[in-house]
Amino acid sequence: MALRRILHYPDPLLNQKSAPVEYIDEQIISLVADMVDTMYAAPGVGLAAPQVGVLKRVIIIDCGNREDPDLIRAVNPQIVDSEGECSEEEGCLSVPDYYASVKRKSWVKVSYQDMQGHWIERECEGLLAIAFQHEIDHLDGKLFVDRLSSLKKSMFRKKYQRIMEQQKEQL
Ligand code: NI
Repeated sequence: MALRRILHYPDPLLNQKSAPVEYIDEQIISLVADMVDTMYAAPGVGLAAPQVGVLKRVIIIDCGNREDPDLIRAVNPQIVDSEGECSEEEGCLSVPDYYASVKRKSWVKVSYQDMQGHWIERECEGLLAIAFQHEIDHLDGKLFVDRLSSLKKSMFRKKYQRIMEQQKEQL
C-alpha cells in the first residue's frame, strides 16, 4: 500500500491538461493502485491522476458504500453523450473544507478503457454522473470551483484564503 500526496488548490499542476495514456504498463498499474489506496484513505469518492501530480488521463471513482463498494478505474475517459441538468453540492480532495453547488449534466454516457485496455461504455446518472464529470474536468485542468459564477468564485477565493491562513496558524 502506498499513499501519494494529494495536491491542493492553488497548485498550478491542477490547471494543466493531462495527456492520454498510450499503454497500460507497470507504471500506470502501480499509479492506479496507489490512487485507490490514497482515495480510500482520504476518504473520497473520486480521484484523478493530476491530483497526485501525474498528468495522465486516469481517474478512479467509487460511489458505492462500505458494504457495497463499486470501484471504477477508468483510463482515457470521455463523455460521449449527455442530457439534462442538475446542481448538487460538490467537494474535492484538492480543495479541502470547501463545498459548493455546480451545474452539471444529470445523465452522461461515458467511454473509457479498463485496466486490460478494453473500451467500455457506461450510462450514468445521479452521483455517478456528477463524479465522472468532476473527475474528467480534472484531466482538462479544471476544478469544480472554476465552474462557479464569477461572483461565487471571488467569494470562494476570499473564503479559501481565510481557511488556508487558519490551517497555517494551526501548524
Ligand atoms: Ni476533485
